[in-house]
Amino acid sequence: MTSVDPAELIGALSQELNNHDHRYYVLAEPAISDAEYDQLLRQLQELEREYPNLVRPDSPSQRVGGAPTKTFPTVTHDPPMLSLDNTYSEDDLRAFDTRIHGGLEEDERVEYVAELKIDGIAVSLTYESSVLARGATRGSGSEGDDITGNLRTVRTIPLSLQQPLVSIEVRGEAYMPHAAFESLNSARVDAEGPLFANPRNAGAGTLKMQDPKIVASRWMAMFAYGLVTDGDESSHTHWDDLDTLQQLGFAVNEHRRKCAEIDDVLEFCREWESKRDDLQYEIDGVVVKVNDLEQQSRLGHTSKSPRWAIAYKFAARQGTTVLTDISLQVGRTGAVTPVAHLEPVSVGGTTIRRASLHNRDELVRKDIRVGDTVIVERGGDVIPHVIGVIMSKRPKGTQPFDFPKECPACGQLLVAMEGEPVVRCVSAECPAQLRQRIIHFASRAAMDIDGMGPAVIDQLLEKELITDVSGLYELKFEQIANMERIADTSANNLLEAIGDTKDRPFHRVLFGLGIRHVGATTATILAHHLGSIDEVMDAELERLQEIPDVGPIVAVSLVEHFSRPAHRELIERLRSAGLTLVTDPTEVVIKDISSPFSGKTVVLTGTLTTLSRQDATEKIESLGGKVTKSVSKKTDIVIAGTEAGSKLKKATDLGVEVWDEDRLRSSLD
Ligand code: IVH
Repeated sequence: MTSVDPAELIGALSQELNNHDHRYYVLAEPAISDAEYDQLLRQLQELEREYPNLVRPDSPSQRVGGAPTKTFPTVTHDPPMLSLDNTYSEDDLRAFDTRIHGGLEEDERVEYVAELKIDGIAVSLTYESSVLARGATRGSGSEGDDITGNLRTVRTIPLSLQQPLVSIEVRGEAYMPHAAFESLNSARVDAEGPLFANPRNAGAGTLKMQDPKIVASRWMAMFAYGLVTDGDESSHTHWDDLDTLQQLGFAVNEHRRKCAEIDDVLEFCREWESKRDDLQYEIDGVVVKVNDLEQQSRLGHTSKSPRWAIAYKFAARQGTTVLTDISLQVGRTGAVTPVAHLEPVSVGGTTIRRASLHNRDELVRKDIRVGDTVIVERGGDVIPHVIGVIMSKRPKGTQPFDFPKECPACGQLLVAMEGEPVVRCVSAECPAQLRQRIIHFASRAAMDIDGMGPAVIDQLLEKELITDVSGLYELKFEQIANMERIADTSANNLLEAIGDTKDRPFHRVLFGLGIRHVGATTATILAHHLGSIDEVMDAELERLQEIPDVGPIVAVSLVEHFSRPAHRELIERLRSAGLTLVTDPTEVVIKDISSPFSGKTVVLTGTLTTLSRQDATEKIESLGGKVTKSVSKKTDIVIAGTEAGSKLKKATDLGVEVWDEDRLRSSLD
């Protein structure tokens, strides 16, 4: 029998897992299933437990291995991490081109590289002998914070490079993808914590966290955009450096273009200014760089920024406008949110009339008053927020907002809990809470009832056709058909859509119940650990807290929720209606939000040969994607089987990514 050297085995397993991470997170081309990956990881962890001194710094088990830190040591950046000069107009870009030509020999040709300007946090990564040794923030440019433990958790940052014995410094932008941002903010809505205004703030806050485990749970990512060498460059152009970075295992943004003329750069800028909403992450402009490294060094830099590069900034997604009124909205758990009514203002191409003011404390802290000129911000798909007041524009005679004492919907006295920024209506009969509970139940992330929007729900409530969500399952055709603006066909469609939800997996029903602090992720975890609604209803505090990621707040909320007979009775009505209240053991759990389909809109077209459309749809949806019928600018991926026709053509015309069936299969397996 041959005995295997444990050090060798640990090395081989670490490397294999790192390669799979690279395929999964950077290339979005996984080669093995999650279960196989987990098995390899377990094998490695067992060996590492047996031989702790053989654990390698680039072991995938070390991604989240860092201990919490109180402070971050300071690191010096050599050369300093410069910033970029900004321009906001095409004329400024042409002036930049003229400056570049003026700084070089007469008639010298200049090629530019245009790249997306990722709106995140600049970081520097140092690799020694191909292993990640240090990761730091930009900080002041000359000195930053050593946040190695936090950056290790970012799955698109390789722990070791794809080529051996390389010692380099890589610079790039860490960022929070929209899907991660939305899931973080929706968890905060559930926990009633303050929301992050945009993905950049959320990302910056996350990288400053003292506990790498929290950072790991927030699914940050990074694009590399620069290679720092100590003079003995083997490449001659920035473009080649980007290719090198990609070969070393970094995620390099795919939307980059070599431009022979400044007009090509302008074209790239215009194109991305209009397409920025199609991306899964935030960009705030385009970075234009002279491609030739030798020309770069001749052009040099000022103390602040290189002369060979410039940032073309898109129009801000902030605007100022006048706040005309403040109203109150009552949420499904009774939390009362103030809403700003605004004089319509166009922000980044969208007209904004309303914006969130979060909660009473925030309103008081910012002293926002009716009549004020306020700054509003919209980040990606996010609800606009009021960021603050321009005090110099405050008209005379404004009054601080007098927060009502009673619920605007039912008149019950509002309650403010000690230490909570939120005031809430605690009435069990509040109609506004009921309305929100039904909207939540019908929403896409919960039961996804097609056609059941607020307008229909309002009519159902007005006509007293339902008094809770179980009432939806007792609706009759005539009742719906008699409602305003509902044709017979839509009544049928609506009934069918309601009926379809009986097959929704249990975790979505659990989420749909709208229990305080039980967001979509928590509901999925609970459903998978407890297996049925009966186990969830009867679980005691201790049992609930044994479940990974379920803390005391969630546990108390669940126990409290199901201690009320009315809530248990609702479950019995949903059971009689035929909803799925047990977990299907074969169901795929969304392991993370970085699957190739997370947040993506996918269209299937043509004939698939190895699986049915229904199966493909379910699998894509279980991996966080949304499958729709028609191709539009909003489509991210078109999967074309054989004999694909007009949809494939439209996808090609619109420049939408097209996959064949093989690629689909390898992303699902
Ligand atoms: S190059 C010497 N490329 O924008 C300049 N920067 O002030 C090195 N950024 O802090 C920057 N995307 O973090 C470069 N593709 C990109 C970028 C990018 C985002 C950030 C960078 C810097 C800021 C500009």
